[in-house]
Amino acid sequence: MASVLYSVNMNVRKRVGVLISGNGSNLQALINAAYGHDYPAEIALVISNKSNAFGLQRAAKAAIPTYIFDNKAYSNRISFEYDIDLVLRKADCDIVCLAGFMQIFSQKFTEKWEGRILNIHPSLLPCFKGLHPQRQALEAGVKITGCTVHLVTAEVDDGPIILQAAVPVKDKDNEASLSARILEEEHRIYQKGLAILANVLR
Ligand code: GRF
Repeated sequence: MASVLYSVNMNVRKRVGVLISGNGSNLQALINAAYGHDYPAEIALVISNKSNAFGLQRAAKAAIPTYIFDNKAYSNRISFEYDIDLVLRKADCDIVCLAGFMQIFSQKFTEKWEGRILNIHPSLLPCFKGLHPQRQALEAGVKITGCTVHLVTAEVDDGPIILQAAVPVKDKDNEASLSARILEEEHRIYQKGLAILANVLR
């Protein structure tokens, strides 16, 4: 009997909460991947700190529950994070994916979700952490940049790396053109990185 239960549990898809602040094209890539019959994760909910984030429409179209927690409406970070954590836990989320979520979590939050929270960053970490990494790459004159899927820790853009993709910088690139080519790679590797984590947590 125990072995039957074990094999049933092996087939349960990991429940994922995706946090966004804007366009949500990475969210869309995760939604699309999760339509796959064999994909080991499902998108259980989407949380945005911006009520006008386009990603909320993407989630609604996919019939995924959405929540808005406007960080500006909170007097402190602790209660903002408390509400996010509560919704994630009430929905039985196993994994959190940050997808263009423009807020930094406290050490307390990242420790609560240690090993279960992923981020996508548009550079080859540890290079070009923080804001405008594509602009940083152009200013540094590198010939190759890219994107990174990594686990989130208290240090911004610093956790263990799961996957990376390289993107050549072309002579004629500007920030917009480079960002667009990196974004294509983000869409490709974020869903792969999530699948790796979901399979590890089985
Ligand atoms: C992506 O480049 C992501 O790496 C960065 O912000 C951008 C979000 O894009 N953190 P989108 O909202 O997923 O379209």
